[in-house]
Amino acid sequence: MSGAKKATTPPTVPTGTPAGTQLSLAIPSGEYGTIPVAESDIGGQLLPILSKGLYTNPLDCIREYVQNAVDAGAPHVNIRITGNGVTIHDTGRGMDEFQLKAARKFGISSKDLAHDVGFRGIGIYSGYDLSNRLIITTKKAESTEQFVMRFDFKAMKSMLDSAPAGSVSLNSLLGDFTTFKKEPAFDPASSFTTVELEDISEVHLRKLANRNDLRHYILQNLPVDFADTFEYREVINEHLRQEVPGYKAVTIRLQSDGEKDEVVSKPALDKLRPPVFDSIKDDKGKILAYFWACLNQDNKILGEDNLALTPAGRFKPSDWQGFAYKCKGFTIGNRNQLVKMFTLGNGTLYRWYTGEIYVIDEHVIPNTARDDFESNAAKSQLEIAVGATMDMIPQKQETSSNNSSATKPRLPQINVSKPIKLSKRSIGLTNRSVRPWVGVLGLSLR
Ligand SMILES: Nc1ncnc2c1ncn2[C@@H]1O[C@H](COP(=O)(O)OP(=O)(O)OP(=O)(O)O)[C@@H](O)[C@H]1O
Ligand SMILES: [Mg+2]
Repeated sequence: MSGAKKATTPPTVPTGTPAGTQLSLAIPSGEYGTIPVAESDIGGQLLPILSKGLYTNPLDCIREYVQNAVDAGAPHVNIRITGNGVTIHDTGRGMDEFQLKAARKFGISSKDLAHDVGFRGIGIYSGYDLSNRLIITTKKAESTEQFVMRFDFKAMKSMLDSAPAGSVSLNSLLGDFTTFKKEPAFDPASSFTTVELEDISEVHLRKLANRNDLRHYILQNLPVDFADTFEYREVINEHLRQEVPGYKAVTIRLQSDGEKDEVVSKPALDKLRPPVFDSIKDDKGKILAYFWACLNQDNKILGEDNLALTPAGRFKPSDWQGFAYKCKGFTIGNRNQLVKMFTLGNGTLYRWYTGEIYVIDEHVIPNTARDDFESNAAKSQLEIAVGATMDMIPQKQETSSNNSSATKPRLPQINVSKPIKLSKRSIGLTNRSVRPWVGVLGLSLR
């Protein structure tokens, strides 16, 4: 990779060895031998291939920059949409000169999977396809200088379009079209990082600038806190802080021209029973995850009634029905995915609950699209343990209700015209799996 260049006007031809140039080392006869990979063997096309391939929704880039803010310990993140640009400002640790230069590395991350969300070393390139420029300004606390790195994505794109296929190496692309500067800091005490995506294409901007879409994406994907008015906010946060290593929730503020500033928070769901909590363990007792779950007080699918405390029309009940996997606060997949784990009542009772499952086992790794986990033994173990735990949630609910006289719910009434008669055989249940429901829901078995 070429070093930091001071050039403000990018050269018209890329530097470095042209791709395809043969190295002088010949293939040895008989024995296997290595041949060095030339700088030019890794083409600049890797940048669009990866950034377009990995981040299919323009809002994914918001997730990537907020993820970096969370990894930098930022308690607050501001997302501002202005004209045809987006700015993501965080009050995290910031970067010094050395760290900012290292941030340009492609596919190399110095993060630690045990504590950080990022690990692939490509997230900052998620804005490549959307915008023509990316500017990162950053500062550490007590530094009198701030450092700026600017990616000229427009020049990179036109270089890739105009040069013969394979003739531009990734090194020369990043080396020639990334520029740096330092400047005096305005507020020496502060630390921050500001990511500016400039000149965003119209089609992508439409999606980013839609407040409803942006809010929905943030709520469904990022580690935001509950609204202050949510009855169980404190108790859930307290349990998560104690039981989920590195648990943190960020305050995300949305700002855009002509609209009111808004702090995004999870809705204050109403008419829920007190939460139940537990660890999810494998058969050797190793903790793989931790969950909280609240059952609708009326023993029915979560609906508009549960959203009565929130501004009308802002949230959809279906966004909060059932469970979501969380990895360090970021959602993996969606709430429809876990229904298959909830075998009781053939899955229909799944949407009577709302809850989250925080994955703790660090061997369970989100896939790059973050719509599932990578297939490995740890994922299989987690799924077995989650399946077994989900079936026991109703029983836990009953025990916890019996133990808590202060919050003892009234006896559940099933909200259907005819009493539910479940045939174990008809819905494929075992005695063990259906028993928990009998007490909680007053089901009768035949
Ligand atoms: N907001 C930020 N605050 C502090 N450091 C940051 C910030 N954004 C990026 N960095 C630094 O830049 C590096 C590169 O970020 P990038 O998102 O590309 O990779 P990553 O976070 O390491 O991995 P991943 O691709 O999985 O997100 C980070 O490892 C981090 O050191
Ligand atoms: Mg990252």
